[in-house]
Amino acid sequence: MMMAKKQDVRAPTYNLVVVGLSGTEKEKGQCGVGKSCLCNRFVRPSADDFYLDHTSVLSTSDFGGRVVNNDHFLFWGEAGRTTEEGQECRINVVEQTEFIDDQTFQPHRSTALQPYIKRAASTKLASAEKLMYFCTDQLGLEQDFEQKQMPEGKLMVDGFLLCIDVSRGMNRSFEDQMKFVTNLYNQLAKTKKPVVVVLSKCDEGVERYIKDSHTFALTKKNLQVVETSARSNVNVELAFLTLVQLIDKSRGKPKIIPYFEALKQQ
Ligand code: GTP
Ligand code: MG
Repeated sequence: MMMAKKQDVRAPTYNLVVVGLSGTEKEKGQCGVGKSCLCNRFVRPSADDFYLDHTSVLSTSDFGGRVVNNDHFLFWGEAGRTTEEGQECRINVVEQTEFIDDQTFQPHRSTALQPYIKRAASTKLASAEKLMYFCTDQLGLEQDFEQKQMPEGKLMVDGFLLCIDVSRGMNRSFEDQMKFVTNLYNQLAKTKKPVVVVLSKCDEGVERYIKDSHTFALTKKNLQVVETSARSNVNVELAFLTLVQLIDKSRGKPKIIPYFEALKQQ
């Protein structure tokens, strides 16, 4: 006879943050490294809900609207998944980026005045009544979209997906990106939270950049690397679930309970 498994009543929730090179055109070149597309593909994978364009250049009113809410991060919503062990779980996805003023082309001024690499490594995020982000067209037309709020209070971050764009990029050098990524990783490491390296845009990946990224990960405590393409929808799921697994491991294995104690708990 099979032993009856104790049912888990509450599905565990994971708060995952996507980070990577961000800033003005001077820093990131003409095009972002793929943080938004990765989030979009994970939380809303279907072709109808996937957008390639998620501009970070915003008017003052869009920056102050309820979706961006004067923050330099986006709440992408919550996704339900089943882990490899068959456990139901919920995953909240946040993107840490930098929003640029469409008039001055400088970063929007927000309450958080820290530089990106410090801010992106925050392990507690809060934003009163901030709405889930869908797409650029939603900004200013919030009523036309489902209005789902970011969970109330402080969102405790469980782990980070560190994006490295391995495509040719647009007037940005891979070496500069790696300098940024190294500094960013050093901040993330201080939090002691699990980190997964996510190679983005592998559909246009440059072999040397892919190799260098793997070398980087090896030298940083043997970080796990997932090669993804949000555009082609390859390995996006794997990237997030790899991080969930790492978090689970760091949260500890199930506690071994002696027979009599277990009996008492029944
Ligand atoms: P910021 O938030 O502005 O810093 O950018 P980001 O890191 O969020 O980048 P985003 O996801 O907006 O992607 C920028 C551009 O890269 C997109 O508009 C796409 O053109 C391209 N891109 C994103 N994902 C992929 C991908 O998987 N493959 C390819 N080939 N291009 C991609
Ligand atoms: Mg973005």
